[in-house]
Amino acid sequence: MNKFLVSLALGASLLSSPAWAADDSLYKAFGEKPGLVALMDDFMVGLIANERTKSFFEKSNQQRVKEQLVEQLCSLSGGPCQYKGGDMKTVHDGMGVNKTHFNALVEVLQRSMDKRGIAFSAQNKMLALLAPMNRDIIEPAQ
Ligand code: HEM
Repeated sequence: MNKFLVSLALGASLLSSPAWAADDSLYKAFGEKPGLVALMDDFMVGLIANERTKSFFEKSNQQRVKEQLVEQLCSLSGGPCQYKGGDMKTVHDGMGVNKTHFNALVEVLQRSMDKRGIAFSAQNKMLALLAPMNRDIIEPAQ
């Protein structure tokens, strides 16, 4: 390869993934915004169908929750979104969410991710980003 081609290749690779750009590979693995919207639609159906989570979500504004979750997961996965919803502690305060409820929600999410064919490694990365939030969501046992 002559020098010109080398610099062309280098330039192209810098343009496609500049060092300062956020890593959006996880966002892409989830199918970007349309993928997240479809995932959250299925997730909400699952949450309403699940005995352990249904009572929480039946009475919530499901459309808003789905939209906020799309923004949150988009932002968490390196996508071009900004989550502007409430902080996890305030949003879930007083709901009485316990470990069992939290685990049930994670299982429902896993099933939805499976259904959408999201790679297992990407599923695990997303779950690893969500898991620490349990501290703000689960209420201490009385
Ligand atoms: C990592 C786990 C979780 C995440 C990332 C999460 C995230 C969110 C987000 C982004 C919202 C919308 C906030 C807003 O409207 O500003 C929300 C609302 C809500 N979440 Fe969660 N959540 C989680 C776990 C749970 C669990 C385990 C339950 C109960 C089983 C739950 C029940 C609810 C309910 C009922 C609402 C609606 C509140 C309302 O009507 O205002 N969440 N959650």
